[in-house]
Amino acid sequence: MRQVHICEVGPRDGLQNAKHLMSTEAKKAWISALAAAGLREIEVGSFVPPKLIPAMADTGEIVRFSRTLQNVKVVALAPNLKGFQRAVEAGAHKVTFPVSASRKHSESNVRMTPEQMVEEVRRCAQLGGAEIEGAVSTAFGCTMQGAVPEDDVVRIAVSLAQFCDAVALADTVGYANPAQVKRVFSRVRREIGGKLEGAHFHNTRGLGLANALAAYEVGVRNFDSSMGGLGGCPFAPGASGNVITEDLVFMFESMGASTGIDLERLFEARAILTEAIPQEPIYGHTPQAGLPKGFRAAA
Ligand code: COA
Ligand code: ZN
Repeated sequence: MRQVHICEVGPRDGLQNAKHLMSTEAKKAWISALAAAGLREIEVGSFVPPKLIPAMADTGEIVRFSRTLQNVKVVALAPNLKGFQRAVEAGAHKVTFPVSASRKHSESNVRMTPEQMVEEVRRCAQLGGAEIEGAVSTAFGCTMQGAVPEDDVVRIAVSLAQFCDAVALADTVGYANPAQVKRVFSRVRREIGGKLEGAHFHNTRGLGLANALAAYEVGVRNFDSSMGGLGGCPFAPGASGNVITEDLVFMFESMGASTGIDLERLFEARAILTEAIPQEPIYGHTPQAGLPKGFRAAA
């Protein structure tokens, strides 16, 4: 039984920030390999203006393709109502919205204040057509604003919980530390209970895994991560890659928490990624070192 659920966000968070474009065919091959490795939830792209992020121009086709894969929840990011409508039309099972707790990041990222963005997500939820996740971005700090008050994070999470199926907390720029992660997740959980699901960490200062473990220790079981540690928000200066899927899976499996993901097959998916965009820096300790002798995955 899976004890930890991992959503692979590389095709969205990773490729939106990559310097090199991945072809539509390579995206399909990569996503298929991720599914074959056991990932049951994949954020395959975003519905943003193609001029703004050309790497996401083919998301409609990618969503339609991903829907043909067995047992995969197909997730897409949308920044507004138009993006939501495009996602529903393409058949995304779940749509995630970035709702920044930092006013400056919100205005830079979606050209709306946090309050306007909450109302935009509310309108989409009223329309229905897909599961909706409200992701509180910059929940642990912001490169533009600096500190982000925890009260702001809690207030936005509480608003989103009124109409979203799930709420996530995202460390968009990699400012979080494990003590803060435990404190903020616990505080938000007290307010919205089981609606708080996902944790989205970036590894900018090397604390991605430590933060994931801290969240796990306060009961979080849903994590976003990115193969090869690709990732970052183009509208948050200084943001770099997500917590690395390969290392996150290894951490949980080696401590006995099953992810349902096969590491050898995950490495096969990684080979497709490195072949598709060979010039892009790809990270990961576990794939470089290999699995320990006698390694056994969690039962
Ligand atoms: N998909 C495709 N086109 C869209 C769109 C969407 N989701 N939203 C708006 N557009 C189009 C509009 O139709 C309009 O087209 P036109 O010029 O041909 O009339 C144009 O884009 C501008 O629309 P507007 O509503 O004024 O958007 P904006 O310029 O204020 O930008 C967002 C707002 C939200 C669309 C933009 O800031 C955005 O996409 N942000 C997301 C950034 C991101 O992906 N960050 C990383 C993930 S956290
Ligand atoms: Zn991110």
